Amino acid sequence: MTTLDHSYVEKGSWKPDLFKDKVVFVTGGAGTICKVQTEALVLLGANAAVIGRNEKKTKDAAADIAKLRPGAKVIGIGNVDVREVQDLAGAVKQTVDELGKIDFVIAGAAGNFLADFNHLSTKAFKAVVSIDLLGSFNTVKACFEQLKKNKGAIIFVSATLHYYGVPFQSHVGAAKAGVDALSNALAVELGPLGIRSNCIAPGMIDGTEGMARLTPPGSDPLQTRVPLQRLGTTRDIADSTVYLFSPAADYVTGTVSVNDGGAWHMGNFTGNLYPKVIIQQLSDPVSKL
Ligand code: COA
Repeated sequence: MTTLDHSYVEKGSWKPDLFKDKVVFVTGGAGTICKVQTEALVLLGANAAVIGRNEKKTKDAAADIAKLRPGAKVIGIGNVDVREVQDLAGAVKQTVDELGKIDFVIAGAAGNFLADFNHLSTKAFKAVVSIDLLGSFNTVKACFEQLKKNKGAIIFVSATLHYYGVPFQSHVGAAKAGVDALSNALAVELGPLGIRSNCIAPGMIDGTEGMARLTPPGSDPLQTRVPLQRLGTTRDIADSTVYLFSPAADYVTGTVSVNDGGAWHMGNFTGNLYPKVIIQQLSDPVSKL
């Protein structure tokens, strides 16, 4: 089921056909956040390729999104692991064969789970860094020729948890810090070619897989920790995405759009975990390599 509908165009801030004749390539496009980013672009005229590991989930998401706009072309390409650049090269070829080109890239594929340092194996750390950081690099690498040709734009889906120390998230924090650094370097390096690179850093977005995975049981009501006193919505992320790909952002590159209601400025997000639960976990004799 899609999250957005036609009222997004009729009553929203954006004009219809804003992205007519544009094509977006989205890794992780079947996940909650990247799917709604794709929905917004498709509602506003774009065609899309949704890329993922799970064939059925990816194809189902694409079919769902395609229903949003008559004439929309949305293809789902499964069995793609962003850790494998050749998988991505194949997906890029299929996208260009079927949709003609690629203008926009969303590097959104990510892996996450809560794990303290003691229980985080080298393999687990490597899995997350490889999906989030190497996978983002591979995605842009595979799309580079198209981005050059079409003076395209990139959005990396980042996070805010590396702005300070978040326990149980050392793997993701390290990976997302790398994603921000990658985006900044690409903004500078690819700017002369007319390619823009920005990040979106979602905070606590209601109804996402990330929230379900990462909210420790027994946490305080989360919105009390957000200056704007509400959780984010997937529509908040859709709006930032549309802005960053729109001509309104033609002079915007090398930035991070933080969509978190101001939450990271509050600092302490460890809630009632700190330090008791952490000490318990780290005292556990099972220390994995
Ligand atoms: N706590 C600690 N370690 C964990 C873990 C957890 N909750 N989940 C996985 N791992 C470890 C595994 O045990 C393994 O390490 P080990 O063999 O040393 O024990 C390592 O991570 C790799 O796991 P594996 O399942 O082989 O990797 P994968 O490449 O198939 O999966 C993950 C990648 C681990 C990131 C998996 O969580 C995933 O596929 N997630 C996809 C969706 C997702 O995370 N979305 C998040 C949106 S915020």
